[in-house]
Amino acid sequence: MGKFSNKTIFITGAGGGIGKAIALAFAKKGANIALVDVKKEYVDSLVEEVQALGSKALALAVDVTDYQSVRDAVSETVAFFGTLDIAVNNAGVVGIGSIEEIDEQEWDRVLSVNAKGVFICTKAVLEVMKPQKSGAIINTASIAGKMGMAHLSHYVASKFAVIGFTNSIAKEVAETGITVNAICPGIIGTGMWRGEGGIADRWKQPGETEAQSWERNKKSLIPQGTDQSAEDIADAVLFIASAPHITGQAIAVDGGMTM
Ligand SMILES: NC(=O)c1ccc[n+]([C@@H]2O[C@H](COP(=O)([O-])OP(=O)(O)OC[C@H]3O[C@@H](n4cnc5c(N)ncnc54)[C@H](O)[C@@H]3O)[C@@H](O)[C@H]2O)c1
Repeated sequence: MGKFSNKTIFITGAGGGIGKAIALAFAKKGANIALVDVKKEYVDSLVEEVQALGSKALALAVDVTDYQSVRDAVSETVAFFGTLDIAVNNAGVVGIGSIEEIDEQEWDRVLSVNAKGVFICTKAVLEVMKPQKSGAIINTASIAGKMGMAHLSHYVASKFAVIGFTNSIAKEVAETGITVNAICPGIIGTGMWRGEGGIADRWKQPGETEAQSWERNKKSLIPQGTDQSAEDIADAVLFIASAPHITGQAIAVDGGMTM
């Protein structure tokens, strides 16, 4: 029997680097997992990985910016597993550009997934958690929710929004026994940072390769000098999910970037 046996976890952005690590960490502790991403094929192979660990998984194709779809996915999760105990609202997109480069459409794209998506998912899961008077909600913010970063202003605005929203809902539901926290990853080499169009690629200096930019940026930005793994973030999420008296916090796993 794992620590999260018979618990059901609802994870958005489950097909991405961090979401996948969180899903597998919960699966190793015996939890049932609802794997949510924009396309089902992003999580299909993860369903098999979760099942291979002896846990149950459900793949759901949902756009977190669409309230009705998220509500339907929450209902499907409860119908399939019988409960919904922990929600990890982790789906996110990055946007890079100077104030001149960011137009209204680009602002709306980033704020809509990162901020509105967290609002929608929190609202939908609370419809189940409030009547049952228990639950844990963990919203993925970022170090970008704690400090300004040049050429990431709309991404930073979206993550400050996640932390402010998290703190407010944590207060609003504090007496129900539901905890609401944010996790703030530092720098993790997922699709967001690595590869074509990722942050390391966009932040290349003249003559630098993407890999060299990655090495330079993580050394210059992180006091510990080394990046964090998706598993580091998963470990912290599992800790928060099992801590009944931690609420309204934005916990950074960032090698000291926001100290
Ligand atoms: N990688 C990092 O260094 C880092 C640092 C701080 C915070 N974060 C945050 O961690 C979270 C996960 O990021 P990641 O690094 O795993 O990135 P990723 O790009 O690997 O994963 C993001 C996932 O979110 C999904 N997604 C995007 N829009 C969606 C939508 N509208 N509906 C449903 N799903 C959607 C994507 O399909 C993808 O699977 C994000 O919120 C990100 O902002 C990442």
